[in-house]
Amino acid sequence: MTAIAPSILSADFSRLGEQVREVEAAGADRIHVDVMDGHFVPNLSMGAVVVKGLRPVTRLPLEVHLMVEHPARFLDGFAAAGADTLIVHLEVLDDPRPMLRRIRDNLGRKAGLAFNPDVPVGSVEPFLGDADLALCMTVFPGFGGQAYIPGSTDRVRALRRMIDRFNPGCELEVDGGIDPRTIPLAAGAGAGVFVSGTAVFGAASGPAEAVRELHRLAEAARFP
Ligand code: DX5
Ligand code: ZN
Repeated sequence: MTAIAPSILSADFSRLGEQVREVEAAGADRIHVDVMDGHFVPNLSMGAVVVKGLRPVTRLPLEVHLMVEHPARFLDGFAAAGADTLIVHLEVLDDPRPMLRRIRDNLGRKAGLAFNPDVPVGSVEPFLGDADLALCMTVFPGFGGQAYIPGSTDRVRALRRMIDRFNPGCELEVDGGIDPRTIPLAAGAGAGVFVSGTAVFGAASGPAEAVRELHRLAEAARFP
């Protein structure tokens, strides 16, 4: 099964609850929360208060993508606010294993490991055993609405092979520029979870129809 994770970064914050309910009703599988600190990425976004506010609004899992330089400072706060998955970036950690274990064992949450488009895919391999989710960035993080980097498809394919070999239970997620044109590429290469912001909340047909269309396209192109 493929999963769609709308990124609320592109939602209308004046009616965030309503927008989350709308994508949930349309069959979205989880809600993606992009946290930016102005250091790891050149932009600021939102903190744990947003997760806390959304928690009673939806039954969907809330996954928090920590694009921050010091993720250790924020894990407890997001877990307490109701996050189900905490995703940290490989670039800011010498060895991500202790943090992934802390997320799983101490906080009882799912642990995700993200990496940027310039990180060799092979460098993730030693850590897959401690991850519930590997997030292959398909743009350089920091802003919504960027174009999918074409070389990402081969990276997803390589990551798929590594996951199948070292930890088949680990989810493979893609994030950045995922829309009706690019989702078949990533799905065909072996991604199973698709983050999408602009193509959901900015869709001319509205977020609900966009989620349904992305689901259809991902399923149709799914890796065998
Ligand atoms: C990139 C973020 C993404 C992004 C996705 O900085 O991690 O989640 O907002 O947005 P779109 O789908 O607009 O590329
Ligand atoms: Zn993200």
